[in-house]
Amino acid sequence: MPGTLEKIAHRRRGEQEIRRLEALLRLEQPQFAPGVVHEWVAREFARFDDAPVRAYIPILVERAVRARLRATPVVPYWPAVELVDWARGTAEILLAGELPRRWQHTRGVAGRASEVSVVLPPGERAVLVAAAWLHDIGYASPVSATGLHSLDGARFLARLGVPSRVCALVAHHSGAAAVASLRGLAGQLAEFPDERGPVRDALWYCDMSTSPWGEPVSFEQRMAEIQSRRGPEDPVVRALAINRGERAAAVERTAELLRRTGRCPASVTRSDARSSTSPCCCPGGCSGGSSAVRRHGAR
Ligand SMILES: [Fe+2]
Repeated sequence: MPGTLEKIAHRRRGEQEIRRLEALLRLEQPQFAPGVVHEWVAREFARFDDAPVRAYIPILVERAVRARLRATPVVPYWPAVELVDWARGTAEILLAGELPRRWQHTRGVAGRASEVSVVLPPGERAVLVAAAWLHDIGYASPVSATGLHSLDGARFLARLGVPSRVCALVAHHSGAAAVASLRGLAGQLAEFPDERGPVRDALWYCDMSTSPWGEPVSFEQRMAEIQSRRGPEDPVVRALAINRGERAAAVERTAELLRRTGRCPASVTRSDARSSTSPCCCPGGCSGGSSAVRRHGAR
């Protein structure tokens, strides 16, 4: 086993190799932000921290990072590009192959966001739909760094030049602040502001009314599903003791906005509803009296 001085020398050589490899890959792969390349190179090097034989580590790291770059053809955001199109394409690259169920869920959330966005001012709609496409990219292995997917996703997007508002919406979606506190990451999440407005509420609403398979579900069903799937020790489940009320309030504010603008939130606020065609939550029901008909308007 190498002694302490030898370990220090190895580490220094490793740091030089990281810098050399990063510089090379940045030249070859300009579509990736420097931070992305740095993270991937550093992460691959870290896997060999305790390796007694280090001669081949730079070659192995370079091979692994190149494979990752080829498998993740993410391009930086450019304002001339349609934000929603870019968001959909990036989410597909990151999720569809590696995490197909998460991709199904994301498609459902984005679909819901498209429907809900009509209650927002026109200038806000693309922001909501783009954030919906991107909200869970932090689960993808090329993005995951701290393990708090909302923070990792937001940082990844910031490095790619995505508008800061979309990054912040992703950072704080669906009660992320409470999970960050439990995991000791509150300070890092605070890099991004929580705007606490209708767009943010609508993103929470869409996420918390969509099952892991992308189907519409009620808020209560979604919470029950999260608890049973993740188990009691998971920070997301433990955070429900802190943020369940905040989550419910965001859902209810969006539901109220939908009701006020003549659109029934249907399956979201009814615990017994199972799909978007389920009976609505309006007094009298969707096919009920004239008040219900007025509430629904043209859908
Ligand atoms: Fe989600």
